[in-house]
Amino acid sequence: MPGDPQGITRRLPVEMAMLRVSRARHRLPRLFGTPQLVILGLGVMIGAGIFSLSGVQAAVNAGPAVILSFVIGGVVCGIAALSYAELSSTIPVAGSAYTFSYVAFGEIWGWLVGWALILELLVAAALVARAWSSYFIATLDGFEVTVPDWLLEYGQFDSDINIVAPALLLLLTLLIVTGTRLSARVLTLVVLAKVAVILFVIVVGARYIDRDNYTPFVPERSEIPNAPAATVFQTMLGETSSGYGITGVFMAAGVLTFAYIGFDLIATAAEDTREPRRSVPRGMLIGLAMVGVLYVAMAAVMVGLRPYAELATGAPVSDALRGVGVDWAADVVNVGGLLAFTTVIMVVLIAQSRVLFAMGRDGLLPRGLSRVSSFSAPSRAAVTAGLAAIVLALYPQIGELEQLLVLGALFAFFFCAVGVVVLRRTNAGLERGFRVPLVPAVPVLSALLTIWLSLNLTLETWRNFVIWMAVGLALYLVYGAGHSVLATAGGDDHLFAEGADDAADVDEPVHGGRHRGKHAR
Ligand code: ALA
Repeated sequence: MPGDPQGITRRLPVEMAMLRVSRARHRLPRLFGTPQLVILGLGVMIGAGIFSLSGVQAAVNAGPAVILSFVIGGVVCGIAALSYAELSSTIPVAGSAYTFSYVAFGEIWGWLVGWALILELLVAAALVARAWSSYFIATLDGFEVTVPDWLLEYGQFDSDINIVAPALLLLLTLLIVTGTRLSARVLTLVVLAKVAVILFVIVVGARYIDRDNYTPFVPERSEIPNAPAATVFQTMLGETSSGYGITGVFMAAGVLTFAYIGFDLIATAAEDTREPRRSVPRGMLIGLAMVGVLYVAMAAVMVGLRPYAELATGAPVSDALRGVGVDWAADVVNVGGLLAFTTVIMVVLIAQSRVLFAMGRDGLLPRGLSRVSSFSAPSRAAVTAGLAAIVLALYPQIGELEQLLVLGALFAFFFCAVGVVVLRRTNAGLERGFRVPLVPAVPVLSALLTIWLSLNLTLETWRNFVIWMAVGLALYLVYGAGHSVLATAGGDDHLFAEGADDAADVDEPVHGGRHRGKHAR
């Protein structure tokens, strides 16, 4: 309802969401097809989840059944991806879950989902940048390069002051600000290299597997030193800490959802994509299926190489290979990890810039964020995303925020699943390039699985998430509710009509990614 001062029932009309893309000056050049989207997906999914978190989860939570945790996480994400695929094939615009929720549920819910996405992306960029810096040291070490003292002091994952992670984020932000085309090219090469490294681990590592390492497959629950705090689900069962047993496998599944995070970001590239109604669902589902297979195979090799209790290291896969005496393969894996983390950060920063771009265009964040620069990229949004990640990367305890990132993503999964059912009712006639089968059963299943998985995260994670969302709500009330384009325009679409754009300071991109200059038409 336009003009609703609370914004609770003010929904973004789907026609308006689309009209902005087709007619407004705030638009991005269309450079991607399905293969590029698959690359994008692999670029952001394969990273610290498989190369780093998998070992700790095997060691303290799931044992060899971490393989099962990857399967569970993959299934939950796969079912959620169906909803993302339908929504992005219906409303192929840059905001992904944020825009879907804005259209399906109303402005305040759209804002909250957008705010959760910002959390997901911010933590991902900062956390993986710190993981990159520690892998960098391990890689130099592996190649017997003397690591300078300053790097040892300021480059570890948990260094009080880490300067490598912010420097890397700065470099990648500059790359993104200068245009998607360049970034996509770099991304393709790096993604090919890291997939090759994973295949290499599977093929080389498989020869050194010791079958005894697979038993017990699900270790009995036990009190171990440094056991993770209990999850909400475990607390309901009266347990006070995590650590093995079937609930440990579930907790690992929740944490390792981290490894699949990124399929949801493919939808944020919808406005950069040719034929997005077909390409986005395909790119998303193909990418997710590929990483699911790679993760399960790589996890099976990792726990086969070494007793699970010895996998609690920052680089468990390469350490396991070193443990069986193939040092050269461990070095290859370290380089693969570095490449993997680099592309994760890059795609996360691109996705963050797209979400900020979309929120700025809607007036919920300052409108300058939706400015498209002379590089045909939303540069202000990209700079903002990069700076925010740099600041968070300075936080030494960033490693404790991995579950917070997962909860932010699951929050968005839930809204997307329910959004499919809502939009089928409210906008039944819309063109849908992809349709979720068995609606409402599949989206309802997805929503239930999402809630269930989120209960397998810790109470502390929930508390931090509630604080973050409360801050977001306050921001919406003091800024977004009053500056929203829907509020100020009364829901009228004339603002988005050709030539009547309100973007007085917007540089307009032209097709092919070239630029005619400020205010040119
Ligand atoms: N999926 C990404 C990773 O594992 C966030 O690093």
